[in-house]
Amino acid sequence: MGRKKKIIDENNIIKKKKGTDRITDKVAYKRASKRSFQNKISKEKIQTINTNIQEADMKTVLVKDLNKYLGEEIILKGWVKNIRFSGRLIFIIFRDGTGEVQCVAFKPDLGDEKFILAKALTLESSLIIKGVTQKHEKKEDEFEINVTDIQIIQLAHNYPIAKKDHGPEFLLEYRHLWLRSSKQNALMKIRHTCYFAICEFLNENGFYRFDSPILTPNACEGSTTLFEVPYFDEGTAYLSQSGQLYLEAGIMSLGRVYDFGPVFRAEKSKTRKHLTEFWMMDAEAAFVEYEENLQIQEGLVRYIIQTVLNKNIKELEILERNIEQLKKADAPFKRMNYVDAVNYLKTRGSKIANKSDFGANDEVMLTEHLSVPIFIEKWPKEIKAFYMKRDPNNENFVLGADLLAPEGYGEIIGGSQREDDYALLIERMNEEKMDLESLQWFTDLRKYGSVPHSGFGIGLERLVAWISGTAHIRETIPFPRMIYRIYP
Ligand code: 4AD
Ligand code: MG
Repeated sequence: MGRKKKIIDENNIIKKKKGTDRITDKVAYKRASKRSFQNKISKEKIQTINTNIQEADMKTVLVKDLNKYLGEEIILKGWVKNIRFSGRLIFIIFRDGTGEVQCVAFKPDLGDEKFILAKALTLESSLIIKGVTQKHEKKEDEFEINVTDIQIIQLAHNYPIAKKDHGPEFLLEYRHLWLRSSKQNALMKIRHTCYFAICEFLNENGFYRFDSPILTPNACEGSTTLFEVPYFDEGTAYLSQSGQLYLEAGIMSLGRVYDFGPVFRAEKSKTRKHLTEFWMMDAEAAFVEYEENLQIQEGLVRYIIQTVLNKNIKELEILERNIEQLKKADAPFKRMNYVDAVNYLKTRGSKIANKSDFGANDEVMLTEHLSVPIFIEKWPKEIKAFYMKRDPNNENFVLGADLLAPEGYGEIIGGSQREDDYALLIERMNEEKMDLESLQWFTDLRKYGSVPHSGFGIGLERLVAWISGTAHIRETIPFPRMIYRIYP
């Protein structure tokens, strides 16, 4: 890493000089390879002793279900997470995606030849293990496998990720392998839970899934962060920043709708909260006004917390999340008007100007001491999107709220009541110098049976970062896309 020129920005994110990553990482790869090299035997020898395990009358079991098979001989299929040799004993930490279990290969039980085979195992080799499930010798509630047979599926090359700490750039370069580590595995499981909890809550509350397009003719969230795509004879298309505008068409047919998919922001932000591609769930509902919109959001977020606490305690422990703190978030959320938030920030020394968005530090100051999320309400119209309805009590503000996660994790939801009056909407779009033609379909919605309506969008990665207690959102998505990273 020493050869690399580092530029550290205000958020402590290291920006690398373009093009040098791959070269330095190759050197690191070679070093790591040397470290993990061990117990080589010839390919021919392996071929002759690597006989197939007879599976005919035996069940393949998942590690998470081992408690149902105490005392039984079973088959496991997976990978070597770790291995330790000690005379006539080999300890394999085996993983299959659902969990990890120690498998003990004792030479007299396994036989001489298969013991040689076990000795050849390298980190991340794939294999089938036959063995008897037993209670772990030392750990209560854990199991261990007494290995009776073994079959290597593929003997892994020298694994580049060693046990010692690697820097984030190295790990991101090997993201395709890093995903196998316990913490990354736990994060993906929590992401999975959040995804399905969101869908469950919405399905239970009368929202229909309504998939919005990714290729669009217009901006949704301002034209400065659009990815352009050449689109045949039609000119330029843009990758969607949010499906919201399309959902507003959907509600006029279905009442309540949601979408859930990747969205794109060509933002030049190098913070721990910004990705260029992330997953958003947008929800939209007809005849729902400002207040009810906040209630739906609060209900949703509390349901997600409850579901993760029900299903992922083990994963939260692996991630060393403060679980008691997370439990406290399942309580009524706080609220504060934007103007009061700015005044509070100023008393704490923030340099925030009036009518400007919060900086990362402002968000931290507003929420670090909180245990529940907080809605920041009624923003100045100048800094919010054109579609937000103005506050009837003060035309300079909009009926929009951002939901900030507690403990300094920042904004997780943006939402508002929408402008449903045709003339007022056109007025706002003209103020913003927007292209009315490409959005005619959208303004049409205010001409044919317009109704009061509201909606919101939740960023899945920011939600997972908060719930799992992960500092940088790059670890909460399988393959993060950031301004300086498109590989792998
Ligand atoms: O606040 P945003 O920009 O709101 C919208 O796009 C609305 N159209 C949503 C709606 O009303 N249907 O984005 C919503 C959420 C943010 O609160 C944040 O969680 C996440 O999307 N988000 C990002 N996540 C990761 N990287 C980025 N660059 C993000 N930008 C927004
Ligand atoms: Mg926002």
